[in-house]
Amino acid sequence: MFITEIQTDIQAIEEDETIYQEINFTNRANAIDFLDFHIIDRIEGLLQNLEQNEELIILQQRAEKIKFDLEKIDNDMFIRLREKIRTGVYNGASFKEMIGQYCGYDYANDPDKIGYDSLDDFINGLLSDQVIPEATMERKPEMVFYQKTPTRIIFELAELAVLRRDDVFFDLGSGLGQVPILVNLISGTPTKGVEYEPAYCNYANTCASQLNLSKVEFINTDARLADYSRGTVFFLYTPFEGSILQTVMEILQKESQGRTIRIFTYGPCSETVAKQNWLSCIKGEANDPYQLCAFKSLSY
Ligand SMILES: C[S@@+](CC[C@H](N)C(=O)[O-])C[C@H]1O[C@@H](n2cnc3c(N)ncnc32)[C@H](O)[C@@H]1O
Repeated sequence: MFITEIQTDIQAIEEDETIYQEINFTNRANAIDFLDFHIIDRIEGLLQNLEQNEELIILQQRAEKIKFDLEKIDNDMFIRLREKIRTGVYNGASFKEMIGQYCGYDYANDPDKIGYDSLDDFINGLLSDQVIPEATMERKPEMVFYQKTPTRIIFELAELAVLRRDDVFFDLGSGLGQVPILVNLISGTPTKGVEYEPAYCNYANTCASQLNLSKVEFINTDARLADYSRGTVFFLYTPFEGSILQTVMEILQKESQGRTIRIFTYGPCSETVAKQNWLSCIKGEANDPYQLCAFKSLSY
């Protein structure tokens, strides 16, 4: 009974020609997930209970082969697309157009959506083929662990911020670097990331240099020690809390005494940022951690 079910599932994927067409990334991502979690995992579970079962082993090999072929389509596609980023074919509008072709054009943030989707899978594969490093430093209290901003929020941020080429954008606690890299690719604005963990910072710098993005830079330091003198737009996806967040806010307040700055936040840190009396909230509900919020420094 279960063998027939698995056979039918595998056959349905094999016969779906659309997922072998490179452009259909989302359907292919769904098929790979289905193979992993509903077919391969299921067969592995069954094989633990049943002794050697020839038929199941053959089905397992068939499923692994389809998965390999589908992942190869993605890998080859990402190598080619990275080369086009590297040579400047995709930047600004042409970059967004390419993302739309592969992932659909409705990547604008949907307020009811929480978590990650296939746009995140696409961007993860697109930006780098490096192995994600383990953290090497022990995080101090109040420092938040790495978790990436959902990609649709980064697109919303780049849209909302209307960045100019004379802006300098900072991501505080930049992790593996996706925010500065994408914001630069979308807007052309120089971007910088500040990251405490050296392994993440190295990963991000390698990624930017492999994509030939000369206006993207990652600085390995504590956000309390970085030089923000050129920064005009800052982003925080709740990188730290409590006294660290308050100290960084005081540093940014000092910066705002010489020029107007804007701060974008995502996650629970929005509530703390909203309490700063030198900022006015220009977008978003600060008590909703799933909304992107925007703040502007009051006139100096
Ligand atoms: C929630 S993650 C955000 C990652 C990144 N902004 C993104 O959206 O992809 C928080 C990051 O902040 C970093 N971090 C925590 N405390 C920090 C500090 N004091 N200075 C610089 N980075 C810090 C962590 O190592 C982690 O990579």
